[in-house]
Amino acid sequence: MTQLATMLLIQISAVSATVLNLPTVNLPLPTLGSDMRATDLRCEYLCEPLGIDVVQPRLSWKLQSQWRGRKQTAYQVLVASNEELLRDNRADLWNTGKVTSDRSIQVAYAGRPLASRTRCFWKVRVWDRDDKPSPFSAVATWEMGLLEPDDWQAKWITAPGDEDGMPPAPIFRKTFVLSKPVRQARLYICGLGYYEAHLNGGKVGDHVLDPAFTRYDRRALYVTYDVTGQLKSEFNAIAVVLGNGWYDMDAEAAWNFNKAPWRARPTLRCQLEVTFTDGTARTIASDGTWRVAPSPITFNCIRQGETYDARREIPGWNTADTSDANWSLTKVGPGPKGTLSAQMMPPIQVIGTLKPVKVAEPKPGVYVFDLGQNIAGWARLKTSGPAGTKVVMQYAERLNDDGTIDQKDIAVHTKSTPFQTDTYILKGEGTETWEPRFVYHGFQYVQVTGLPGKPDADTIQGRIVHTALDQAGLFECSNDLFNKIQRCTLWAYVGNYHGYPTDCPHREKNGWTGDAHLAAELGLYNFDAAAAYTKWMTDFKDEQRDSGELPGIVPTAGWGYAWGNGPAWDSAYLLIPWYMYQYRDDTRILTEHYERFKRYVDYLTSKADNGIVSIGLGDWVPAKTETPAKVTSTGYYYRDALIVSKVAAMLGKTDDARHYADLAMRIRDAFNRAFFDPKTGLYAGGTQTAMSCALYHGLVHPAERQRVVDKLVERIEKNDNHLDAGILGTKYLIDALTANGRADVVYKMATKTTYPSWGHWIAQGATTLWEQWDGGASRNHIMFGHISAWFYQALAGINLSPDAVGFKHVVIKPQLLGDVTWVRAEHESMYGTIKSAWDVKGDRFTLKVAVPTNTTATVYVPCDEEQFAKEGPSTIHSGDHVRFARLEDGYVVFEVESGTFEFHSKLSR
Ligand code: BGC
Repeated sequence: MTQLATMLLIQISAVSATVLNLPTVNLPLPTLGSDMRATDLRCEYLCEPLGIDVVQPRLSWKLQSQWRGRKQTAYQVLVASNEELLRDNRADLWNTGKVTSDRSIQVAYAGRPLASRTRCFWKVRVWDRDDKPSPFSAVATWEMGLLEPDDWQAKWITAPGDEDGMPPAPIFRKTFVLSKPVRQARLYICGLGYYEAHLNGGKVGDHVLDPAFTRYDRRALYVTYDVTGQLKSEFNAIAVVLGNGWYDMDAEAAWNFNKAPWRARPTLRCQLEVTFTDGTARTIASDGTWRVAPSPITFNCIRQGETYDARREIPGWNTADTSDANWSLTKVGPGPKGTLSAQMMPPIQVIGTLKPVKVAEPKPGVYVFDLGQNIAGWARLKTSGPAGTKVVMQYAERLNDDGTIDQKDIAVHTKSTPFQTDTYILKGEGTETWEPRFVYHGFQYVQVTGLPGKPDADTIQGRIVHTALDQAGLFECSNDLFNKIQRCTLWAYVGNYHGYPTDCPHREKNGWTGDAHLAAELGLYNFDAAAAYTKWMTDFKDEQRDSGELPGIVPTAGWGYAWGNGPAWDSAYLLIPWYMYQYRDDTRILTEHYERFKRYVDYLTSKADNGIVSIGLGDWVPAKTETPAKVTSTGYYYRDALIVSKVAAMLGKTDDARHYADLAMRIRDAFNRAFFDPKTGLYAGGTQTAMSCALYHGLVHPAERQRVVDKLVERIEKNDNHLDAGILGTKYLIDALTANGRADVVYKMATKTTYPSWGHWIAQGATTLWEQWDGGASRNHIMFGHISAWFYQALAGINLSPDAVGFKHVVIKPQLLGDVTWVRAEHESMYGTIKSAWDVKGDRFTLKVAVPTNTTATVYVPCDEEQFAKEGPSTIHSGDHVRFARLEDGYVVFEVESGTFEFHSKLSR
């Protein structure tokens, strides 16, 4: 198991252990108050965020109790502008009083309007069913950012004479004297493309490749740091290095980012706001008095790589000890056109370090380090040698027959050379350790030339770099292939998240919209991805044209409206917010984008011909059989119209609700008229994608559904139980078969090890998911990953309830499939850890579940019906807070309150 996976597993188990090892009996309460405790307080999905700009942030908490069946019946939130007030339960900003409600997530702040920089301290207590209050939670905080344009005293600055060509990355610097003791200091910073800020010799924060990529002429993100501890009395220096990132992307590649309308030389806006203990304040803001000098980073391009000439290092560049008198003065510039917004998502970070598993020397002096894992990130070099020695590191995910690296497939769309190559020029002073700052690569192999001597195990290490999404899921089972597929999926998901979801971390680094929505449900099961998706949906808003059109990649410099989009990709803009509603009870994201959803559907209507939409890409990279794009495009058109009508109904817009529901019905009729053959029971000639598309979207007339399912299964069986679909069809097959009682067929497809299958990739050594079933092109794509969501849904049985969003009620319905004898899964919902763990020994089935406090579950326990008829439900489970509900298709169904429970049943032979 990889370090990442191990680390993530340990992390999850630690979180859940307290919830899971609970007594199974319910005893009378020994205390007067409720034993419930509110923990893990979040604000806008984030833990203690600094510098947010949502004026009514949503608050969430989890409830812990060692007893079953605990429920919140009321809550009280207190928000104060200082901690002492809150200690005395005095809430000068918001005191909700006792609110009768079982809502413990997404509670929108509705207190006094919050001004810029307000630090909010908050805590919450809850009442239980007996109306007993819990103690108050520990205090959590959030802090407002700069809400008004006038809050920014800082100017945008650039390096003079920097306009032509691609000069070295500039270092901006300001020294200042602080003569009074400091109480608090905040740094507000936006440095484009990327910044790395230093204060008094140390890096500020642990973000890399910051801020996240946005369409800079519409929006740029600033980041807030608490730098109180980094200031010194008297002489201080702030220094900021800027990389080009996507702001000044010079490489010529298929998607024209080098011609971006926002393109300009790197620019910085930052202000350091210092409050002294005597209550006075001072702001050190970027302006024309700042100094600038070239850094040793002589070249940096996100697609091409970075070059660092250590001989050009400026000693003391980030401390106040060095004079910058001979540095140039900066120039005040216009900065990007976009609005400055707060970055409210986890930053990109260095997540871990991998040691190579193998070092080879395929040619004299050419060393190839194999990390044993395909990752996104870079290499850290450690070496020593004479000044001027040039060490070149090239990154790839494949090898040529001779053992050297092969970049052909990943470099194919980029004209500029080199591709994914970092260069370090030694200064010749003892051991030198270096890693790049403003690029990242997708790779498993690092080919190194120019090393002064023979490398050792420490010469190259892999640094894993991606958006720091906390893991929110755990899945493992007795089928080793499934565990391997799951592991590949996790790596592919994080390797494709760098401030926005990408298709691949090397060839394109593009925010392909289709890939992302296909991966969104697995993303929400496995990761705490809600804040990241919230940011990305704002990027969609920034990209949508007045006509409603959306590009195939987001963010874009303008490419992707003419090709590469269409409903099957663009629908990410409606689907992801919809999933956020289903999985995280997020209604705000629906409200906020609602008008634009409508605009998108209206745009499709303007393109439709009698209800059929033919524009856009169809099922992408299918195994062998193609399906006409109009089938899949019309399917999404239908789904989008339905989403709009549902959101309209939620918002009380009854006319809209009716209008879009009618539209959906008309699309459904048109779809069936155009593609369904009542004689054969086939859609569009019966391709797996067309058949499952109709079922997946709910387009099939109920009277025909079983026939269509049977025909689809027949076709799959004729294909030796292999899937024959691309990225769209693969998701449809998984969901449509499972929803129609044929998860057994998905199991057969998912356990294949011959082409085309996930197992076929694994058999060839895959450590991530690949782009194509035949192994061609990229080897780190996430778009076939939905099978991971199926592991949770079908095997572990952790499912959303049709009647409650956000897992307020969970349906736990494990399916016994094939040779699987045990499953252990957890999902960290916004209410807490949901667990489903089962095993089969002989004919005995055991299921252990954990249902978070303040939620309920319907639990399906597979059971022999005859046995059940003889013995009744009490042998399966007896105890309180569990109620037998019914017998249904080989399952005994229980309604369960919160807590941990164990079920034991006898299976039919
Ligand atoms: C990307 C895909 C994307 C597709 C659409 C490819 O080049 O890598 O993942 O969805 O183009 O055209």
